[in-house]
Amino acid sequence: MLEALDRLYEEARNALEAVADSEGLSAWYSRYLGRKGAVTQMVRRVGELSKEERPAFGRRANEVKAALEAAFQARSRAIKEAEIAREVEAGAIDVTLPGRPLPRGRLHPSTRILREIVAILTRMGFQVYRSRDVETDEYNFQLLNMPPHHPARDMWDTFYTTEPGVLLRTHTSPGQIHAMREYAPHPIRVILPGMCYRYEQITARSEIQFNQVEGLAVGRRITMTDLKGTLVEFARQLFGEDRPYRFRCSHFPFTEPSVEMDIQCILCGGEGCPVCKHTGWLEIMGAGMVHPVVLRNGGYDPDVYSGFAFGMGPERIAMLKYGINDIRYFWGNDLRFLEQF
Ligand code: PHE
Repeated sequence: MLEALDRLYEEARNALEAVADSEGLSAWYSRYLGRKGAVTQMVRRVGELSKEERPAFGRRANEVKAALEAAFQARSRAIKEAEIAREVEAGAIDVTLPGRPLPRGRLHPSTRILREIVAILTRMGFQVYRSRDVETDEYNFQLLNMPPHHPARDMWDTFYTTEPGVLLRTHTSPGQIHAMREYAPHPIRVILPGMCYRYEQITARSEIQFNQVEGLAVGRRITMTDLKGTLVEFARQLFGEDRPYRFRCSHFPFTEPSVEMDIQCILCGGEGCPVCKHTGWLEIMGAGMVHPVVLRNGGYDPDVYSGFAFGMGPERIAMLKYGINDIRYFWGNDLRFLEQF
């Protein structure tokens, strides 16, 4: 039986050599050293031997068990290390690979320019005042010194609703009345950003919806000089210190006197080009001193108070600033356009 034990030992050692992974290891263990394993079974057969043979067999059996146990431990360690090494290699991070770019959202160009304009004006002390997009004829026209049938209404092609006297605001100027009626007789410095709507043919230069930023200052002894100083400082901050500007006489029923502000054409530098219609100048806004009738409609006594107002279109300004030649891009949702900003 000693010989059988030695043969078994030999066999187990060879089998262990052939084991390659953890599964093979545990199979090997139960086959030889487990409770029903071959070595365990053989050791139990010690009772079949004679008294004289037992000690030698017992000693040898213990040696074999210990040796196999040790060999098993060594083999386990080696296999585990090999497995870890394989895993590390498989999951290795190649730090030299370029990263995968995450697509990033960005602000719509209208939002960007709107925020830029609002930032400049709020730094100058104007606060943002919001009023509604759906207006009444009274606020959009009448209180701004345009009674029904006033010819100046032709300047704003209007979307009327089915409700009589209710329309989509054609400009942010009705907000002037809302702000004045809320704050009179206190001094006001507000800007009114928001969407406006006009029933127009959509072309490269005109859209049926667009933003405006209105400005309004009312108080005692506010003069045209204040208006010019404010707008010149604004234009410097938006278009740069050295961009030439000019004021032209104009007419709006709700301001008197009225002006329009131009800056020198950014594209041709005043030489004349198709964008500035060969004048060398680009119009950026309408403005003027608030008309006495409008002041009174807002709740201010025009003999005591005066004020200035201005209104500009951020999309128009973005077109000048970024050289965009078609206003339809703004609401076209073409990513090739939007991703340039
Ligand atoms: N509301 C005018 C427009 O839409 C612009 C403007 C605002 C002019 C305020 C003068 C004063 O054209």
